[in-house]
Amino acid sequence: MKTGRIYRRFKSSNGESVTLRALRWEDLDDCVAFINDLVGEKNTEPNLGIIADRKQTREEEAKWLANQLTGIERGSIVGVVAELGGRLAGNSSVTRGSYEDTKHHGYLGIAISKKHRDRGIGLEMMRTLIKESRKAGLKTIELEVFANNPRAIHVYERTGFREAGRIPKKMLRNGKFIDSIVMAREL
Ligand SMILES: CC(C)(COP(=O)(O)OP(=O)(O)OC[C@H]1O[C@@H](n2cnc3c(N)ncnc32)[C@H](O)[C@@H]1OP(=O)(O)O)[C@@H](O)C(=O)NCCC(=O)NCCS
Repeated sequence: MKTGRIYRRFKSSNGESVTLRALRWEDLDDCVAFINDLVGEKNTEPNLGIIADRKQTREEEAKWLANQLTGIERGSIVGVVAELGGRLAGNSSVTRGSYEDTKHHGYLGIAISKKHRDRGIGLEMMRTLIKESRKAGLKTIELEVFANNPRAIHVYERTGFREAGRIPKKMLRNGKFIDSIVMAREL
């Protein structure tokens, strides 16, 4: 896969043009803003499925982005970002298992920035991730979602994921335990 490659364009449910493409180096400043907005949001909306809890410096994010781009070029990461009005509005990836016996299996993660949620973008990103993962030779994908995140669970079920197991009390947030649900699908 090539960095920056465009997968598809579509209109969100409120009529905005969305481009789904792979990450590229020029996304660095947007990536810093994107992750730090999510971290900030976690503190104000504790029921969201955001677990990242430390703001990233530009240098830290540059290291993360360099790893992502290397993974994309080497075929160990399938990455799909959503771009709206020239800015990064969503990020998602499937990371291939690193062992000989697990390299057919991927681990999926996704997040959309707050102002762009509930407009059909997550669903389209999931569909593109699945299609591109299949093209990359992956056979199975898993993801983990907290049980208090019904919107994400709904999007995952709509894209063919089913509960494969549950880890009781994996998260302890604000004095409350929350189960983690492992979901998986074949490609
Ligand atoms: C989860 C997330 C990726 C989904 O992306 P999105 O662009 O908001 O999702 P979409 O607009 O494509 O679809 C949302 C769907 O959830 C449904 N939905 C919204 N709130 C819901 C709720 N409380 N319960 C159940 N379904 C809900 C919508 O009706 C829609 O389904 P439909 O198209 O069948 O009507 C995004 O909301 C997000 O980044 N959330 C914060 C971070 C997060 O939770 N990441 C996942 C961690 S595992």
